[in-house]
Amino acid sequence: MSDRYLGFANSTLGRKLVDALGLPRPVPLERWQAGRLRPIEGALVLGGGPLAGQVAAIAPRLTADCYGFASEALEVPAWVAGLGPKLKAVVFDASHLSDSDDLKQLREFFQPLLRSLASSAHVVILGRAPEAMADAQDSVAQRALEGFSRSLAKELRNGATANLLYVAEGAESQLEGALRFFLSPKSAFVSGQVLRLAPCAAQVQDWTRPLAGRHALVTGAARGIGAAIAETLARDGAEVTLLDVPQAQRDLDALAARLGGRALALDICAADAAAQLLEALPQGLDIVVHNAGITRDKTLANMTPEYWDAVLAVNLKAPQVLTQALFEGGKLHADARITLLASVSGIAGNRGQSNYAASKAGLIGFAQAWAPRLAEQGASINAVAPGFIETHMTAAMPMGLREAGRRLSSLGQGGLPQDVAEAIAWLSQPGSGAVNGQALRVCGQALMGA
Ligand SMILES: NC(=O)c1ccc[n+]([C@@H]2O[C@H](COP(=O)([O-])OP(=O)(O)OC[C@H]3O[C@@H](n4cnc5c(N)ncnc54)[C@H](O)[C@@H]3O)[C@@H](O)[C@H]2O)c1
Repeated sequence: MSDRYLGFANSTLGRKLVDALGLPRPVPLERWQAGRLRPIEGALVLGGGPLAGQVAAIAPRLTADCYGFASEALEVPAWVAGLGPKLKAVVFDASHLSDSDDLKQLREFFQPLLRSLASSAHVVILGRAPEAMADAQDSVAQRALEGFSRSLAKELRNGATANLLYVAEGAESQLEGALRFFLSPKSAFVSGQVLRLAPCAAQVQDWTRPLAGRHALVTGAARGIGAAIAETLARDGAEVTLLDVPQAQRDLDALAARLGGRALALDICAADAAAQLLEALPQGLDIVVHNAGITRDKTLANMTPEYWDAVLAVNLKAPQVLTQALFEGGKLHADARITLLASVSGIAGNRGQSNYAASKAGLIGFAQAWAPRLAEQGASINAVAPGFIETHMTAAMPMGLREAGRRLSSLGQGGLPQDVAEAIAWLSQPGSGAVNGQALRVCGQALMGA
């Protein structure tokens, strides 16, 4: 369903009216287009501590235009506030901030460049995980970055985003993959998030096809977010198996044919689903995306056992049963990447969705519980929690709730299936074993449960 307010607010007449009435004016977000070569098309500015130097070393692969700001040590041209070009991307390494007095460096660095941000600019702040700090002062300063980055994300305008990456010692080699996501339009709808990167031995070999040679399974792939995930994984080089219910066979076959993949018509709740899946996948899997999901909304007072059971069975039980079967059946390759489709409802709770929110929160717990076991073999498991995404599921919502879902976020609009798919494609890369047991929200910094 199209977002008519977004179109109106950006028309000549609508812009005047919306500005005169003081209404929010969300802007169309820049998305990744096929054929694009570099993650950043425009100027990147770096500053802060030692990790900025490591980013400078990979910057020529990220952009043709890199500058340093307030950091003489960097061997890149200096960006001058008011004179330099508009900025498409900013990286500030805050890992060296070691007490509360140091935090003023955040204000000193960001304030002069905020008015020079281009539309759909992307800001990344780097730090070290507070829980890994031996010294309490260091830990306090690093924890403070969360409040700062989430507030910055709320203040940015024109489709800009800000996110915080806590980079563990030894995880610096995985910065490139993360920055290719967080500094590019691939993360258009990800803002105000905090993620931790751990060391990971695997590396992407070819950035134009980071999933080449990897075999992926996507459940619920006939339409909506699942179809976008299958398309994006195939774009990045993966061989895809698309699974959906037998009733969706026609759409499934058409998409599989277009992507050069395989269609697998299967109800993931069928008693023999695990056996059928193992039989259909003799070569095993490098990527598993548990995307199939349903809603059956009712307030708890009116919730029927059928509604409760159906949602828990599809959304939570089936991903557990199938993952266990794939694991025990030896079908998960050593460095497999698993992603579970959770939801912001599972983080914040949502009226009328006690069954759905329980299932989605359960998936986040599933990722946390399985992460250590999978890490032992080099595999990883994460949850992606979309906010309001424009699909069949959200088109069926009552209009008032739908409008609230779209506007109550820092970016003031719903996301697209592609936004969720891009996050999953990044988490499915070999190097993304750096992220494990975490939940990444793709929600435009929805105010719900922020
Ligand atoms: N759309 C949103 O705003 C949003 C927000 C948060 C989370 N999500 C989650 O993202 C996922 C995809 O959502 P969507 O909006 O694309 O939904 P959708 O309803 O458009 O697509 C879901 C797909 O899953 C399939 N499916 C359902 N039950 C199945 C079963 N038993 N076996 C096999 N396939 C089955 C359906 O046939 C359908 O093709 C879901 O897990 C959903 O909960 C969506």
